[in-house]
Amino acid sequence: MKPDFAISSVLAPMAEITDMPFRSMVRKFSNSLMISEMISAAGIWQKNQKTLRMLKLTATEQPIGIQIFGHDAEIMAAAAKQAEEEGAALIDINMGCPVRKIVNDGNGSALMQNVSLAGKIVSAVSSAVKIPVSVKFRSGWNADSINAIEFAKAMEDSGASLLAVHGRTRAQFYSGFADWQLIAKVKEAVSIPLIGNGDIRSPKEAVARMQESGVDGIMVGRAVLGHPWLMGQIEAACSGNPIPETPSLAEQKQLQLEHLRLMLDYYQAPKGIYLFRKHICWYVSGMRDAAKFRQEINTIEDIDILTRTISDFYAKAGEDEGI
Ligand SMILES: Cc1cc2nc3c(=O)[nH]c(=O)nc-3n(C[C@H](O)[C@H](O)[C@H](O)COP(=O)(O)O)c2cc1C
Repeated sequence: MKPDFAISSVLAPMAEITDMPFRSMVRKFSNSLMISEMISAAGIWQKNQKTLRMLKLTATEQPIGIQIFGHDAEIMAAAAKQAEEEGAALIDINMGCPVRKIVNDGNGSALMQNVSLAGKIVSAVSSAVKIPVSVKFRSGWNADSINAIEFAKAMEDSGASLLAVHGRTRAQFYSGFADWQLIAKVKEAVSIPLIGNGDIRSPKEAVARMQESGVDGIMVGRAVLGHPWLMGQIEAACSGNPIPETPSLAEQKQLQLEHLRLMLDYYQAPKGIYLFRKHICWYVSGMRDAAKFRQEINTIEDIDILTRTISDFYAKAGEDEGI
């Protein structure tokens, strides 16, 4: 089934990051498709309460794709159906995760080594739901087994309506560079839309990669960490629109505090505070005295003190910039 939403820019799925609070922050700036954190199909099947909560979506987040991982076609199909019932606009199947505990169970990028099982999963999931099904995968398992082109064709033949490829092998994890020449070759080989992924850090790079490779869309992950507004800037660039301005320091502070409040509402204290610490680090990365600030916030457990400390840091940064 063809997607009925734009796919020229997509927020990448990121475990323990693209949760509801983070997606809400990105949605303030962008209408792009966003993909959830990877969610265990087995956890959905077993009705694990924590897993089921990850499936809950809010209307304002749409369009949103739910990413599931697993290796049992029947369980994946059942999980996809449930995600569809929860309001997902797309089911994305994780065939790219390189993490040892995931691949050791035959999930994620391990499926790139078992193309026939990967095809069965895509076929079962596509038959189970009415919404589009995408597959996210890598260049291959390692440098000696780059099979993204054959893999993409097999997934298309199995019923996928959309593909996303990260131009690194499993063995690379996140080292080296994404191979955009390979991504361009994958694009040539399939007739369904292809989204390219890897190392996009700016609107300019997004447009350049899109033009060079001919992909239908760009997926961005790490660059959006601490910069939720970047997704809107990349979306504008990919659609040929003027690029919105980066929020001022004062606005960035407000955004960070809003993100903190969303985390507290969603996860409650103290978990919300612990989970928010990494986001604070990303928000302030590159700013003067960020390292000292990071150390300081990592010991704070009180919401009011944390809020004040963040505000003070930005006030100081504003003074330094003469604002
Ligand atoms: C912290 C982190 C978590 C990730 N979690 C997932 C995930 O749950 N599912 C997935 O398919 N990819 C996951 N990825 C990979 C990203 O979706 C993306 O493919 C990768 O970061 C390359 O894109 P980038 O260079 O724009 O970051 C994760 C990446 C990072 C850094």
